[in-house]
Amino acid sequence: MNKLLQVSLKNIELQSPLMTASGTSGHGNEIEVLAKSPKILSSLGAFVTKGVTLKPKEGNPEFRIVETRTGILNSIGLQNEGAAIFIEKELPGLLNFDLPVFVNISADSVEEFGELASCLSDNDLSQIISGIEINVSCPNIKKGGSSFGTDPKMVERIVKTVKKRVDPSILIITKLTPNITDITLPAKAAIAGGTDALSMINTIRGMAISIDTWEPLLGNVVGGLSGPAIKPVGLLMVYECFKKIPECRRRQIPIIGIGGISNWRDVIEYILAGATATGIGTSWFVNPDVFIEIHDGIKKYLKKKKVGIVDLIGKVHEA
Ligand SMILES: Cc1cc2nc3c(=O)[nH]c(=O)nc-3n(C[C@H](O)[C@H](O)[C@H](O)COP(=O)(O)O)c2cc1C
Repeated sequence: MNKLLQVSLKNIELQSPLMTASGTSGHGNEIEVLAKSPKILSSLGAFVTKGVTLKPKEGNPEFRIVETRTGILNSIGLQNEGAAIFIEKELPGLLNFDLPVFVNISADSVEEFGELASCLSDNDLSQIISGIEINVSCPNIKKGGSSFGTDPKMVERIVKTVKKRVDPSILIITKLTPNITDITLPAKAAIAGGTDALSMINTIRGMAISIDTWEPLLGNVVGGLSGPAIKPVGLLMVYECFKKIPECRRRQIPIIGIGGISNWRDVIEYILAGATATGIGTSWFVNPDVFIEIHDGIKKYLKKKKVGIVDLIGKVHEA
C-alpha cells in the first residue's frame, strides 16, 4: 500500500483517495474491465455501487443519456433489479475487487429507506459492505430524489432512520444535491441525523431540445448534468462545507468530493478545498485509464511536493 495516497473515512482505510461515483460502474458485475484489471483496482480506494432500491425499478423512458459540449445529461431513473436480487446476484461478486464497497441507496419514503438499510445490514453481508451512501439527491425521479435533499428536516429524518437500522460498523455517507442555494444546510442536517461522512455533488438539473423534432431529447425531459462542466460547482460546495461546518473543518466528518473530475489536478483541487476522498464518474466513460492516470499523476505530484495526500486536505483554507 502506498502510504502517500492513503486516506481514511472514519474507521475505513482507503489505499487511495479515488472512488467510483455511483451509477457509473453499474453494480459491479457489468464492469468486466474492472474485474480483469489489477492496475485499475489498485488505483482505487473504494467501489461505490449504482443506486439500489427496495423494489425493482424500470427506470425512465428513452432517451436516457444526451451528450453535451462538456459533459452528459442523464435520466436513467435508478433502473435496477431491487435489493433482493442485488444481494443475491451482484453483491457476492464485489468481494473479488478486494476493496471497501459502499452501496448507494435510494427510496421513495423515509420508511422505505429504513427497510432497505436493514436488508443491507444483515450479518452475512458485513464482510462485503463497508458503507452505505444515502442518495437524497437524484434529480430525475418523480417521487423523492433531490426534493428530499433540498429539505434539511427530511435529510435529518432519513439519515437518522438509516443509521438506526444498520450495524454501527457500517459507514453512513449522505450524498447531497447541488440543486440548492446553500448546501451547508442539508449537510448540517445530515450531521445532526448521525451521518459519518458527506459526499457531494450529485448531478445538476438540466435539459436538451431537438431542433429537428422540436421536442425535449430526454424521455423524462429533465436530466442531471455531469462531467467537466460541473467541476467548479462541486469544488465550491466542498469548499463551503469545509469552511462553514466545524465538524468538517475538524475532519470529524470527512467529505467525498465528486463532480467533473477528469485528471489528477482536479483531484488535488478537491482535496485542497477540503475533500478527503473523491468520486469519478463521467470521465470513466470517456477514458478507461482515468483511474490509473490520475493515481500515477497524484503520486508523482506528492513525491515532488514531498507531502502525503492527507497533508493537503483543506489546505486552501490556510491561505
Ligand atoms: C449515468 C449516471 C448514473 C448515475 N446514477 C447515480 C445513482 O444511481 N446514484 C447516485 O447517487 N448518483 C448517481 N449518479 C451521479 C454520480 O454518482 C455523480 O455524482 C455525478 O455524475 C457527478 O460526477 P461526475 O461528473 O464525475 O460524473 C449518476 C451519474 C450518471 C452520469
